[in-house]
Amino acid sequence: MNAISLFACGGIGDLGLQHAGFEVLVANELLEERAEVFKFNYPSTQMIVGDIADKQQEIIAKTRKLLAGQALDLVFATPPCQGMSKNGRGKLLNAIRKGDKAEIDTRNLLIIPTIAIFLATGAHTLVLENVSEMENTYIPNPSKNGEMIGIIDFIKQSLGAEFSSSIRVVEFADYGVPQCRQRLISIFTKHEKLKKHLQLFGSLFPMPTHSKTGQELPRWQTVRDAIAHLPSLDARQPATAKHTTIQYHSVPLLDEAKYLWVANTPPEKSAFDNQCINPSCLFDKNLTHGASKDKNGINRFNTETPLYCIKCNHLLPRPWVKEGDNYRIMKGYTSAYKRMGWDNPCSTLTRNLSYACSDNKVHPEQNRVLSLYEAMILHTITHYAFHWQRTDGKKVSDKLIRELIGESIPPAGLEKIFSHLALLSKGIPQSPKQPSFGQQELCFA
Ligand SMILES: C[S@@+](CC[C@H](N)C(=O)[O-])C[C@H]1O[C@@H](n2cnc3c(N)ncnc32)[C@H](O)[C@@H]1O
Repeated sequence: MNAISLFACGGIGDLGLQHAGFEVLVANELLEERAEVFKFNYPSTQMIVGDIADKQQEIIAKTRKLLAGQALDLVFATPPCQGMSKNGRGKLLNAIRKGDKAEIDTRNLLIIPTIAIFLATGAHTLVLENVSEMENTYIPNPSKNGEMIGIIDFIKQSLGAEFSSSIRVVEFADYGVPQCRQRLISIFTKHEKLKKHLQLFGSLFPMPTHSKTGQELPRWQTVRDAIAHLPSLDARQPATAKHTTIQYHSVPLLDEAKYLWVANTPPEKSAFDNQCINPSCLFDKNLTHGASKDKNGINRFNTETPLYCIKCNHLLPRPWVKEGDNYRIMKGYTSAYKRMGWDNPCSTLTRNLSYACSDNKVHPEQNRVLSLYEAMILHTITHYAFHWQRTDGKKVSDKLIRELIGESIPPAGLEKIFSHLALLSKGIPQSPKQPSFGQQELCFA
């Protein structure tokens, strides 16, 4: 089966597509350095670098040429999610009335060339991946004088009645990925076998393979399952922060203060809750940190959290800011400087995965964040032969690796979805049971 990939980045998601049996003919990505990594890993795919809106005709023409009269099966599109917001239509319209045009993030309009390309290629199935906020994101409808329309409605309207859709917020831990990552996956299809399956069973998604409770299905894969076997690292000094032979098994150093906060943080706790370390006191009932909703319902972290032991007045090993000779508690939520648990999947890996101040990013017991190698395992990239190399021979920086992980979804989970679609479209019967997803449950994090 064949496909094209829009917003392809470095091609991590495409690993799932490719291993489900799809040949990716053409890909498009805006940023050169990301496309360089893609090109190294998919030498037979035609990568078109540039803005999708400008490259629309080239993408269509190249796809048609490579198809040489054959039909295209699938378009995989993963537009940027940074512009998607929970703002409902009312809030957006109010802002527009007040002349605040900036409320419409132009990145949300990228769906327009995406749909145009999909329709022009004649593919039978479109798979879109985005954050769940996409469901509530509105754009001006180009075919109706800019009248506001929800993105999903815009897609349905543009595709017409010939297409059916199956749309879900998928928790990727339900597909055996040792990471909690929820994404909105929207499948639109005019393929007769897929439509028939959808009509009979109500979903085009495969059954989950794992569950949070572990009752009916095996329990979610955990951080322990994925990385406990790796050699220890310690972020205090260069000699212990880098493994000598395992590539990418290294971590950034923590300065003296951060190391002190992290070293005194118990499992699954935040450094903001650390207690007295004065050996002659060790008082452990100092008020812990927290957050509460203000009168507008916005979550605000406490600013009154103590930084000095109420019993001995010793400085607590909590995240602080030094102002002159004085210290104050750092502004931040309790998920910052927090150790992840061994017995859960890790929280969503973002481009900030190497910062201890980012959410739940401290190793379950060692004094450090995750190494890039551990992140690659937790993101399931190591299931595949993916090369951190660029066609121009330049080094792939650690920053680029973090971006590529943060922007993508775990390919092993995607592979299950694409394999399911491939089997259904070939008429190979799949489990008639309705998928009973745990995705309504929020992640532990
Ligand atoms: C969510 S990421 C895609 C992740 C990718 N599917 C993967 O598996 O790694 C979105 C990508 O769209 C790219 N992008 C943003 N604006 C674009 C545009 N106007 N045209 C083409 N690509 C764009 C970004 O550079 C980013 O790499």
